[in-house]
Amino acid sequence: MGGWTEGYVGGIDYIRAVYRDWSPALLCFALILRGWRPPEALRRGSFTMAEPGCGHGLTSALLAGAHPAARFEAMDFNPSHIAGVRRLADDAGLANATFLEESFADHARREGPMLDVVALHGVWSWVSAENRAILLDTLRRRLAPGGVVFVSYNALPGTLTHMPLRRLLVERCAEGDGPLPDRIARAVEFASRMAAQGGGWFGSTDGVVERIEQLRHKSPNYIAHEYLNGDWTAFYHADVARELAAAKLEFAGAAVPMEQLHDLSLSPAQQALAAESRDPAQAETLRDVMTNRSFRRDLFVKGGERLGPAERRTLLGETRFALLVAADDLPEVASTPVGRLPFPRALYQPLGEALAEGPQSLDALLARPALAAQGEEAVLRALILLTSLSLAAPLMPEDGFAERKISSDRFNAAVLQRHRFGDTPGQLASPLLGAGVPVSRIEALFLLAARLGEDPAAFAWRHLSADGITLGRDGERCEGDEANRAELARRHAAFAQRRLPLLEVLGVV
Ligand SMILES: C[S@@+](CC[C@H](N)C(=O)[O-])C[C@H]1O[C@@H](n2cnc3c(N)ncnc32)[C@H](O)[C@@H]1O
Repeated sequence: MGGWTEGYVGGIDYIRAVYRDWSPALLCFALILRGWRPPEALRRGSFTMAEPGCGHGLTSALLAGAHPAARFEAMDFNPSHIAGVRRLADDAGLANATFLEESFADHARREGPMLDVVALHGVWSWVSAENRAILLDTLRRRLAPGGVVFVSYNALPGTLTHMPLRRLLVERCAEGDGPLPDRIARAVEFASRMAAQGGGWFGSTDGVVERIEQLRHKSPNYIAHEYLNGDWTAFYHADVARELAAAKLEFAGAAVPMEQLHDLSLSPAQQALAAESRDPAQAETLRDVMTNRSFRRDLFVKGGERLGPAERRTLLGETRFALLVAADDLPEVASTPVGRLPFPRALYQPLGEALAEGPQSLDALLARPALAAQGEEAVLRALILLTSLSLAAPLMPEDGFAERKISSDRFNAAVLQRHRFGDTPGQLASPLLGAGVPVSRIEALFLLAARLGEDPAAFAWRHLSADGITLGRDGERCEGDEANRAELARRHAAFAQRRLPLLEVLGVV
């Protein structure tokens, strides 16, 4: 691959994914919860955002489609990542996004506008100390006062568990012959055979066998970019906080709102122990030790302004929410990273029913007697959980909706066209959320058929069968055109009844 990868894994592209973690309404919600004033430009949708190391750039592209008044600058040194997203940007008419094929060092030499948000997802732990220093310098020079940084990284102490696994994969991949994906598959298989013998590290470390089993189902593209980089550093939160302090950045809180609720993962005695620390970075690190955290998604602010309690309450009360699932699909018990959480019916049923009528602000929800009876704290907590579990989402303000809708429609039209060939982001832009909504290929083909006035089952089958895809039902393969079309017709009926109304509410259709 030549010398341009700077120790980063070469010869294999990253996975094509869209992430919701730094979508503007979610960022604002997470900041307000922690008592920070979000940048005004972020709330209004007229912000400037950069994504260094953007991979395929699909998150930046989708956000650019959903926020026509904002400007986006995304860059990655892998030319095939940038070639793909430029093609999407052209097709979707994204005049507000620039996708640069540049290294962090090239990019640092470039002048550009001040930035309101910088998203560093999948970057900090996977690049060298020199490259982190370059990124830090970019943050120091270009992040606007009041600006926000989203940064994810492998965290200590939880990542300690994965270290021998990474080493094993690196060693076995280096030794093998043939294309990298094949070497990765063989290395995972080898790790699995070792694990089957039990004992040693496998026997004494919780979760290792499960992790190896999970890797058997992950793409080689993910495994290569997670484990095979020359640089791979896990951090204590306190070290990241101290490193970023050099760019005048202060820890603002967990980007995932439910991770701000310490009582979910810590006993009262453990919370009291963390509270003994006066340094917030140390307190957060103590919590990570007590929960054995292995991955963090953090928000940092530069010169962030504190909200008083009354203004925080007002901003939260004005925040509107929408459901991302049908109300009767809300679970009674949710599986979460911190275990199984009950969703009591007395709270979640009236909340689900209220949101099923359409988007509602927290204040509007609390004006309903059934929810008022539950108390403000319980309703807010439920919204935090629903939001964090992608069952609901905070919305952008109503102002600017019409412009966001026109631009999202154009982006979505380009994405739907790509679903003919399976070359696509798996999300569509919602002008209501200002974020993405996951849509499967079959759902996308149904939506495209509706736009073209074609029979949805026949249209979807034409495209799926061209790719050699066959459907299944109840564990049985559907044999032949007729059985597959019948299965698609059945799935379309369910889609029209349950998913389509939701996509309409979210402004995706
Ligand atoms: C794990 S991927 C994450 C991609 C994207 N942020 C996401 O979350 O989907 C890291 C990306 O950083 C890019 N990268 C690594 N080192 C880089 C450098 N020195 N300059 C520019 N891009 C770099 C890689 O090409 C890769 O696409």
